[in-house]
Amino acid sequence: MPQSDSIRHSDLESLLKDTFLQSIHHFQETDSTNTRAIDVLATNDSILTPALVYAERQNAGRGRGDNQWWSTRGSLTFSVVVDFQEITISAEQKPLLPLLTGMAILRAGQQVLPAGEFALKWPNDVYLAGRKLAGVLIEVPSQSARYAVIGIGLNVNNRFSDAPQELQSTGIAIADASSCEHDRLEVLRKLLICLGDLIKSFAANEDFLVDWPNYCLLTGKQVTLRTGSTRSTGVCQGIAPDGALMLEIDGSKKRFFGGVVESWS
Ligand code: BTN
Repeated sequence: MPQSDSIRHSDLESLLKDTFLQSIHHFQETDSTNTRAIDVLATNDSILTPALVYAERQNAGRGRGDNQWWSTRGSLTFSVVVDFQEITISAEQKPLLPLLTGMAILRAGQQVLPAGEFALKWPNDVYLAGRKLAGVLIEVPSQSARYAVIGIGLNVNNRFSDAPQELQSTGIAIADASSCEHDRLEVLRKLLICLGDLIKSFAANEDFLVDWPNYCLLTGKQVTLRTGSTRSTGVCQGIAPDGALMLEIDGSKKRFFGGVVESWS
């Protein structure tokens, strides 16, 4: 079948065997898989987690802040619901989940495209050949801080020559870099295996951040970070062991735990 055809529910179910997933919630089309995941949690108190909420097509994908996420045929858009107690991630470890998720996507990307130039942009964007390949939106449902919804958008076969004009020079799909289409189910399988493995080793206190400096897109660059209405500009000194972005501003090192990186050069 052409690689961009829909993934069948029966094929998705094979992920229950090979990954850490315990249930799958499949939509042909929905607004946002994160919104659906939060709804599933609100209406189903016996949800088996980790749960995959997968949509073949999202018509109102949400990004960080006020951003939207361009979701089209050939991309992968999904959310994974995890229960912090079950995956034994402690309160101190929770803030590192975004960085961990970016690393899992990067590792899966390297398996699909070993020669690809992958990089991580704090806290959780994944870049390929200098352009944004994947975005992550992690939300904790207001009704229960026990769960996290890890929303991932990964550009696989959705070529950016077909993207809205404003994204064409900033985004990339794996197929743009490889010049061939990829089996999205297999990409999803690899990503979920990497995510499950990383969560497991992190719960056992293995430090995945040791690998970050090898991929950090911002280290040594002049970075502008927006936190609410405040902008901070400084040279990135890398990522601290607790996941903070470190910027040198007027000779002193400042640590940031939130915000949106607006620019870097
Ligand atoms: C960003 O880069 O700003 C984050 C983008 C996250 C997009 C994914 S697609 C699946 C999930 N559902 C959403 O509505 N958003 C996330």
